[in-house]
Amino acid sequence: MNQLSVQHLLGIKHLKASDIELIFNTADHFKEVINRPIKKVPSLRDITIANLFFENSTRTKLSFELAEKRLSADVINFSASGSSVSKGETLIDTANNILSMKVDLIVMRHPHVGACDFLSKNVDARIINAGDGTHEHPTQALLDSYSIREKLGSVKGKNVVIVGDILHSRVALSNIYALQLQGANVKVCGPKSLIPTHIESLGVEVEPNLKKALEWCDVANMLRVQNERMDLNYFPSTREYTQLFGVNKDLLDSLSKKIVIMHPGPINRGVEITSDVADADQSIILNQVENGVAVRMAVIYLLAQQIER
Ligand code: NCD
Repeated sequence: MNQLSVQHLLGIKHLKASDIELIFNTADHFKEVINRPIKKVPSLRDITIANLFFENSTRTKLSFELAEKRLSADVINFSASGSSVSKGETLIDTANNILSMKVDLIVMRHPHVGACDFLSKNVDARIINAGDGTHEHPTQALLDSYSIREKLGSVKGKNVVIVGDILHSRVALSNIYALQLQGANVKVCGPKSLIPTHIESLGVEVEPNLKKALEWCDVANMLRVQNERMDLNYFPSTREYTQLFGVNKDLLDSLSKKIVIMHPGPINRGVEITSDVADADQSIILNQVENGVAVRMAVIYLLAQQIER
């Protein structure tokens, strides 16, 4: 198969295992391209992409922009502050105004769950979800799995624990779908107040004890506590959170095997992981960032193949 089964990338939930395989095989090629002295291909010279960011972002925004430029697409950037959104314009109007400038594909990050889905049904462009509220962040999950595949040879059969604020994390949900689709075993670990009550219905086991979770896993994906999404106090103090759910080098070295450490960024050093864990040789945090560009190139390239031109 050399075509995606979807027209938009709204969430991993809508993908098949064969889509992920196609994206990864395509990303392998682009990873080779971005390591050449001339890191560009002319594939999307005739495509225009708008990046609409209604929420803060560093890595994801830069990564998408770089991926688009490495494919030679024309790129326009829009962020909510300083735009007419604050003057009361609707999302559909904003998008349609941008599209009338002949834009083919929209990459959107939005604080509201379902915003990308809504846009895909109401405007005439391909949509890529770059994170919608606490719902999904599909390209992050793809680059996470791609990085596991690169480090451990495959995702199938691996034990992966996602640690921390599962309740507010779009990275967690997209990772659960992606890992399961590829045949990995997934557990979550974190304070009870930050684990969604329905999580077991997704086939995910809860392991409340961090040490046990780490002993079980091949890979630990450490999430940031999403303070900006919390309207309540979900745990007594950051210090207590770190004592129970933070990973430091002593804990890592006390395990019976060497596990892989991942983090989607931004890291709060000293909260979810200490600096020496972030910088340890078993941490693949910067590989994740590097792979993000290749994986996003693959997703954009494959969606653009379906556009009539
Ligand atoms: C994540 C996000 O924004 O959802 N970061 C990212 O995209 N690299 C995770 C986070 O903010 O903690």
